[in-house]
Amino acid sequence: MKLILLGPPGAGKGTQCKRIVDRYGLAHLSSGDILRAERAADSELGRKAQHFMDTGGLVPDDLIIDMMIGAIKKASGGYVLDGFPRTVAQAEGLDEALNKAGETISAVVSLEVPDEAILDRMTGRRSCPKCGAVYHVVNLKPATEGQCDNGCGPLVQRKDDSPEVVSNRLKTYHEQTAAVLGYYQKRQASILQIDANQPIDAVTNAVFKALEGLDV
Ligand code: AP5
Repeated sequence: MKLILLGPPGAGKGTQCKRIVDRYGLAHLSSGDILRAERAADSELGRKAQHFMDTGGLVPDDLIIDMMIGAIKKASGGYVLDGFPRTVAQAEGLDEALNKAGETISAVVSLEVPDEAILDRMTGRRSCPKCGAVYHVVNLKPATEGQCDNGCGPLVQRKDDSPEVVSNRLKTYHEQTAAVLGYYQKRQASILQIDANQPIDAVTNAVFKALEGLDV
């Protein structure tokens, strides 16, 4: 199964991807996680991406397409793409690479959440810098406050989760990313629209139910 997970910042893409990959044995290919790892390694790509990520803009398409196509080639079986494609140019780049490899996407899962619900999710998010696990101070608490459940140590707040940067990320989403859903609608891809403005477990149930209906 090859899935694309779409949705605004804070829609719960990372949270739901973790559950999808655990259930279906897929690789989780998150453009945001890969970029954060590049930054932590102080690579050339990480340095180029830094300013865009810190201000809530998008890293240039050519860098992202190369990075994600490389990650897809390394994934041996099925995968879930999280945070990619984020522009129509990225979707076209992905299609070109898939066509060359004779592959297709099984479905596009669209997590739908109104902007009003996003700010609380982002400002309350806490992440593990070591294993990438994601928590929330109210909605998904770790067993011990401020500590990763996987024994990695202290949780951190992402720099780009400040209210000012979140507002820029939402603006960027509406200006550049929302059109990606229309791109897949025009291509008559299988699109699973999920109401993600409900508790985390209810969203997971809705996603699993929708995936069970897929003919793959
Ligand atoms: P990225 O890391 O991809 O950020 P994002 O898309 O903005 O998504 P998030 O990771 O913030 O949120 P999420 O939807 O995964 O939500 P989560 O599950 O964590 O990208 C970061 C930056 O990198 C971008 O701004 C850009 O600069 C760059 N970048 C990345 N990809 C790029 C690309 N393709 N092109 C160009 N640039 C790119 O949940 C959020 C919080 O809410 C958590 O605390 C969680 O516990 C909680 N929560 C989740 N679901 C629920 C629920 N149903 N109810 C209540 N709380 C919930």
